[in-house]
Amino acid sequence: MRISQAPEFGGRHWAGGLVLAALVGAIVGCSSEPAQFELNRIAMHKSEVSLGATLDDKYQVEPIAKILTETFGTPDEPIVPDVPDIEEVMDIEHLKMAAGPYGSDEDGSPRGLYRQHCVHCHGITGNGAGPTAAFLNPYPRNFLTGKYKWKSTKTGSPPTHDDLKRVLVNGVPGTAMPSFALLPEKEIEALVQYVKYLSVRGELERNMLLEFSDLDTSVVKPAEKRTQEEEEYVASLTPEDIADEKADLDEVVVELTDPEVVLEEFLADIVESWAYAYEAVTEVPEKPEVELDESIATGRDLFFNKGGCATCHGQSGIGDGQTAEMFYDDWTEEYYDPKAPEHLEEFLALGALPPRKLDPRNLRLGNFRGGRRPVDVYWRIRNGIEGAKMPAAQQLTEEEIWHVVDYVRKGLPYDTLSQPPEHDQENVRVRN
Ligand code: HEC
Ligand code: HEC
Repeated sequence: MRISQAPEFGGRHWAGGLVLAALVGAIVGCSSEPAQFELNRIAMHKSEVSLGATLDDKYQVEPIAKILTETFGTPDEPIVPDVPDIEEVMDIEHLKMAAGPYGSDEDGSPRGLYRQHCVHCHGITGNGAGPTAAFLNPYPRNFLTGKYKWKSTKTGSPPTHDDLKRVLVNGVPGTAMPSFALLPEKEIEALVQYVKYLSVRGELERNMLLEFSDLDTSVVKPAEKRTQEEEEYVASLTPEDIADEKADLDEVVVELTDPEVVLEEFLADIVESWAYAYEAVTEVPEKPEVELDESIATGRDLFFNKGGCATCHGQSGIGDGQTAEMFYDDWTEEYYDPKAPEHLEEFLALGALPPRKLDPRNLRLGNFRGGRRPVDVYWRIRNGIEGAKMPAAQQLTEEEIWHVVDYVRKGLPYDTLSQPPEHDQENVRVRN
């Protein structure tokens, strides 16, 4: 395929472009076959574990693959699905810039931006498990669940366009997620849209999986794939019962894979939540006019008492609170339950990354991954950090949150070595 032949793959950011090309070649396939999206085998296996049975390829797995290809196309040829408000979320011009192998088209417009800049960390489907991912902590985001951390919206709502753009432009300081501030505006736009494309696609896949997992496919499964319970059930049926059940299953699969049903019943809501993300933005009230010292003192008290922050962030703010044991983020808990770890090996064999403990942040390092502007820290505390177990501080009033913001930003004793010089901090604030 073309991608592995592009000598400048990885472009200006990566001296090790060739090594990367080889690595990426390994995931997208190095033959002349066009690149394919892989199925979310981890989510599928999770269903299997909770069902205590396997999913049937023909009746449960292949129909999902078919729906996804018909609705979203392939990594080289994306499709914009025809649902209401989709134009608020993505358009084909921008998707084409981000999709496909790296290069440019006849009129010089860029192509393949996602594979050039993101795939080695975030993976071709956006599952966060690209070839570089295993070496990073935290791991790159898995886009397939639609959950994001550094956003202005409340838990359960997707980020806004501006939230994603801010992440791309600023990067996530203190993690491997780099800043793409040097890219032209339209390329950032294309990449933001592509992140949404992968997320919406991943969410549809999960919705469909829920539906298909619900089907009892005992009668159509090859005998060796049946559990004992399924075997006994099938043995209890007459040939006519079996024929009826098969016919019913055929009918349900035809209905669930009907493009109109997919778009209207399973995709429209997902797209709507992305299109109207702005309505879920948490309003930020005026900061109360209180002397900074006084505000910090109030914030300190709230941090240790009413706010409950020290239970995770610790008495000295270094992230060693007593709740901080056995803590994993939601993306890890997709496949890893620390209380029942016996299935972990199976998930690792399917490409899941080894679980890594999630640490409550050491707040004395003064590093704000989601942005250091007062408004960013306000959103963090008001809404919590989705997927990362930090709860929304619902017990605090708006005014109290502003005091905690002052304490966290200005009142904690920063460790001297890591305290950034004053002028750097000013620069960061202006750039934001
Ligand atoms: C070197 C690895 C690396 C590369 C390259 C990279 N990312 Fe990331 N990305 C990360 C990591 C690590 C995180 C997780 C940060 C965290 O959890 O705070 C992340 C997080 C994100 C997030 C989630 C932010 C949130 O609010 O939760 C988005 C969106 C994102 N990256 C998009 C991109 C896009 C688009 C590209 C390419 C233009 C890209 N990334 C390139 C490593 C990378
Ligand atoms: C249940 C545990 C828990 C509680 C309670 C908690 N946090 Fe956190 N907090 C975390 C975790 C985990 C992270 C790291 C998230 C990440 O980077 O993925 C974090 C990160 C942060 C950050 C860094 C945000 C950034 O942009 O990098 C701030 C600031 C913060 N917490 C403040 C607070 C405050 C203030 C409170 C109390 C109102 C609080 N936390 C309560 C677990 C908690």
